[in-house]
Amino acid sequence: MDTILSLSKRRGFLFQSSEIYGGLNATWDYGPLGVELKRNVKDAWWRSVVQGRDDMAGLAAAMLMHPKVWVTSGHVESFSDPLVECRHCHQRFRTDDLPEPDRCPECGNEGTFTEPRSFNLMFKTFMGAVEDTASQVYLRPETAQGIFVNFANVLVASRRKLPFGIAQIGKSFRNEITPGNSTFRTREFEQMEIEYFVRPGTDEHWLNSWVEERFSWYVKHGIRRENLRLRRHGEDELAHYAKDCYDIEYRFPWGWAELEGIANRTDYDLKHHGEASGQDLKYFDEELKDQYYPYVIEPSGGVDRAALAFHQDAYDEETDSTSRKEETREVLRFHRHIVPIKVAVLPLSRNERLAPTARQVHTLVRQHLSTQYDDAQSIGRRYRRQDEIGTPYCVTVDFQTLEDKRVTIRDRDTMQQIRVPIADLVYILRDKLEHGW
Ligand code: GLY
Repeated sequence: MDTILSLSKRRGFLFQSSEIYGGLNATWDYGPLGVELKRNVKDAWWRSVVQGRDDMAGLAAAMLMHPKVWVTSGHVESFSDPLVECRHCHQRFRTDDLPEPDRCPECGNEGTFTEPRSFNLMFKTFMGAVEDTASQVYLRPETAQGIFVNFANVLVASRRKLPFGIAQIGKSFRNEITPGNSTFRTREFEQMEIEYFVRPGTDEHWLNSWVEERFSWYVKHGIRRENLRLRRHGEDELAHYAKDCYDIEYRFPWGWAELEGIANRTDYDLKHHGEASGQDLKYFDEELKDQYYPYVIEPSGGVDRAALAFHQDAYDEETDSTSRKEETREVLRFHRHIVPIKVAVLPLSRNERLAPTARQVHTLVRQHLSTQYDDAQSIGRRYRRQDEIGTPYCVTVDFQTLEDKRVTIRDRDTMQQIRVPIADLVYILRDKLEHGW
């Protein structure tokens, strides 16, 4: 973890937020490579669950919602963690996070905790110029509610029939008592959520189907199967709205932890919103000639957690067989769809005869793919630098290129090289990025 974190900063994946002022606890900024990685994670998800399916529609709801939403959803009442404070050092803890129930992990004193109290995790703010309870709103703690309150809108506008789902990606906020482990638990985070609406009675089938679908998405995008597992929630862990839930967990350096939860939310949300708003949120099933509140299966993943897991899992070190000194090669073996930079264009040297052609090749490729141009230091050092950020393909322009209009493509993983005509380069790169070397 420490290795990845220090590399993350050096290579521009992740910086601590407001670092020049000493940083803000557990908040992070994505640097030039981190932002590309995160975009690719979101794009891969969107392609898979929205654009690649006939039964899904997308949505981007506002983060600020009517405060009644959170009363109806149960978050005002139930979205809380049990909190204790140490009377000696005044640190606060989640009781379920304590290694010993009666000893303060900060100062080591025993018997100094206050009685546990419920701490609501929603951030509050005010809308407009007056700061009173009438103008109080919440920063959303989940994107899901934006989907539930738009259920009827999307149903009518997209002329869907059950089963169908709505997906959205967006920021959510939780005032966690104990954030930590880099971007794993932060107070501001991004979710990729689906609410999939089904006929009651088919919910268990669809829960299993989504569990399989979502599990294989992580494998397909490069996470090693042995570093993933599925864990069903115990009765005592279920959220206030859930009848059943599975977590897809990743083996992080500190242990197994949740990447995504797939919950059966039953008709809890639509029913409560229907009743509280007085709007008709039932679905008329033409086949059954009956109307009912659909049941909902919710695959809910964390973008930041997924990006962290992809990054961790990609990290590899190997002895470089091409190096005379038996050096270690650090490689980020990102999947081609997730990797921040897809192609590096490298003139063999800084010789001025190579630069115009190398620049032309770069201009050609960057119109289609995320690229870097690098002409500093030896070609070996530059290959190494690209390996370290995971770039799958390096395109080298050499003196022969000036004669035959061909360039070399080098593969990150096998380090094999092939020579191809510049005229076919983009086509070949796109094909390899889609299907592999
Ligand atoms: N919508 C489920 C969650 O945020 O955990």
